[in-house]
Amino acid sequence: MFITFEGIDGSGKSTQASLLWKWLVGEKKRKAILTREPGGWPGGEVLREIVISGRLKHEWSEAYLFMLDRAEHIASVIQPAIDSDTDVVCERYHDSTLAYQIWGRGLPLEIFDTLAEASAFPVPDITILFDIPPENALKRARSRGDLDSFEREGISFMTKIREGYLALSERDPQRWIVIQCAEESSEQIFEQMISSLASRGLIL
Ligand code: TYD
Repeated sequence: MFITFEGIDGSGKSTQASLLWKWLVGEKKRKAILTREPGGWPGGEVLREIVISGRLKHEWSEAYLFMLDRAEHIASVIQPAIDSDTDVVCERYHDSTLAYQIWGRGLPLEIFDTLAEASAFPVPDITILFDIPPENALKRARSRGDLDSFEREGISFMTKIREGYLALSERDPQRWIVIQCAEESSEQIFEQMISSLASRGLIL
């Protein structure tokens, strides 16, 4: 199973990704890896730093870097795991580029759909969207004291990203599970995630 976790900054997806990975390994005794973008491959930390530093000037640079990061991540981590029947739990993936660079920055969707297909990026079996109002998410990120360049762009940017995610989930409802997580505790969200996965026959 290749499962990706998406949501605006501060949506709580890191906590849930790590809980799911522990559950798959601990409770279900499955082979599973936990990874993330940007930067989930050897060497990726350098790219991650460039991309989140907010110093890139050309309006397409950010998107190119995320695509490069993904291509290397797939080749060195994701595809080998899929090929050896290992579950991949991945925090952020191509849908982050679509939500942030297309809905957020205004780049064209069609080109990035075509690039992903032409580059043979594997399509996740399931993508979980942690949907949260930007106001709540920003409050959470601030309380953690971790506002990177994206988070500093504030509510209007995050609102566009959220709209992007919702549009993406509507375009392919078979692949997406949308979990509302404005007020719910992380235990409640986790339970909802497990029951949604089970109801789709993904974890038995
Ligand atoms: P990170 O610190 O990993 O944030 P988070 O914990 O919320 O994932 O920073 C990654 C940032 O990069 C985040 O704001 C989302 C953004 N991003 C894109 O804009 N496009 C992409 O393709 C990816 C993978 C991430």
